[in-house]
Amino acid sequence: MAKIGPSLMCADMGNLEDAILRLDQKSVDFFHLDVMDGRFVPNFTLGPDIVKTLRSHTKTPFDIHLMIEEPEKYIDVFADSGADMISVHVEATTHLQRTLQLIRNRGLKAGIALNPATPLSNLDYIWDTIDYVVLMTVNPGFAGQKFIPLVYDKIEQLSQYIAEKQLTIDIQVDGNISFETIPKVLEKGADMLVCGTSSLFKKDNFLEEAMDDLNSFIS
Ligand code: DX5
Ligand code: ZN
Repeated sequence: MAKIGPSLMCADMGNLEDAILRLDQKSVDFFHLDVMDGRFVPNFTLGPDIVKTLRSHTKTPFDIHLMIEEPEKYIDVFADSGADMISVHVEATTHLQRTLQLIRNRGLKAGIALNPATPLSNLDYIWDTIDYVVLMTVNPGFAGQKFIPLVYDKIEQLSQYIAEKQLTIDIQVDGNISFETIPKVLEKGADMLVCGTSSLFKKDNFLEEAMDDLNSFIS
């Protein structure tokens, strides 16, 4: 069954601890934490000190999505702050293999994130150093954007590639994962769903209720 990871940048930023504690009462597979630097993407979100503070409130795995230039410089910082998995953008690092190895050397799962327009061929010579691929289904940087439909084919192609090569690589989808898009991304082969404003953090819904809805929707 697919795994669900609430995207904490979509929670009440002034009360992240509350969101974590409440969601942990429900079945949460991982928490997705977005890190932005105002350069790779035109926005800012969470940083290592917040990750460290939140770490003390939960044992649920932390999946850190680095939307920053030169992520290789910050792998140790986020590993020290409590990451379990770290993804870096292929568009943001020159020595991708070395960066992924740095993540693995710290005993963490290493992920590659691809913007919607970035081809899957970027994985051709690196698949043995990847634990998961983040397929961005919106252009990264902001919550509440529209799903880019061409990415459905990309999910399917990646899923076929993984099956053909008999790899153990998870496909994570990030951006506008909603009750409308979930059936299709699952059908195409997604394994990990990053759930933000489109499904979980809706103002007109209670968090617990939304998490129950999501869990029953995918089971
Ligand atoms: C996009 C972020 C996501 C995103 C998910 O740059 O990485 O985590 O905000 O939330 P929604 O559902 O608002 O697209
Ligand atoms: Zn993300």
